[in-house]
Amino acid sequence: MNEKMNIAVVYGSARQGRFCDTVVNWVLTELWAESGFRVILIDPLQLKGAPDEAAIDVAMLEEKIAEADAFIIVTPEYNHGYTAALKELIDSCYEPWHAKPVGFISYGGVSGGLRAVEQLRQVFAELHTVTIRDTVSFSNVWAQFDAAGNPFKAAEAKASLLVMLRRLKWWARALKMARAENAYGGVAA
Ligand SMILES: Cc1cc2nc3c(=O)[nH]c(=O)nc-3n(C[C@H](O)[C@H](O)[C@H](O)COP(=O)(O)O)c2cc1C
Repeated sequence: MNEKMNIAVVYGSARQGRFCDTVVNWVLTELWAESGFRVILIDPLQLKGAPDEAAIDVAMLEEKIAEADAFIIVTPEYNHGYTAALKELIDSCYEPWHAKPVGFISYGGVSGGLRAVEQLRQVFAELHTVTIRDTVSFSNVWAQFDAAGNPFKAAEAKASLLVMLRRLKWWARALKMARAENAYGGVAA
């Protein structure tokens, strides 16, 4: 299968002034340097339209999730967990997530967002996804990037990202072929 994979990058924060933009921008720079896939952005702020709008556009979200062959969740840690914005995105649809791989890039204080990632693994299991063991994690994230948004330890961060990406793409390809061959499911519960 030589067809391009669609990888969705999901913003895990909807906070005004979020650090998430810096981390996502770094990920996108690295992804664009790689070939073999197309990037889809899933941003809770954009899905809301006007800033005072309460609900996200579920139809638009569903379309993006359905189009994706794999996901990279860029998640901060809020009070030892993941964000309400992510929970809203995740719970807004069901089947479009099925039989697809999910990788994580996390950031935060001392834990580097890893507690949020471990919680997200439990949630994503319920959505019939495969979560990738290898992650990229930035602890004390505010001290990790220069003013231009480049990580100070760029080689280290890129090396972790490439390991995660290689495995994400392996699963994306394998599961895309499996979905094409056979509709996922067939079990009632
Ligand atoms: C409500 C809130 C709770 C937080 N709780 C934690 C935490 O439990 N552990 C941690 O490492 N960092 C915590 N932080 C720090 C965030 O991980 C850090 O500010 C990060 O930049 C937030 O992501 P964002 O700017 O993209 O929203 C918290 C931040 C906020 C706003």
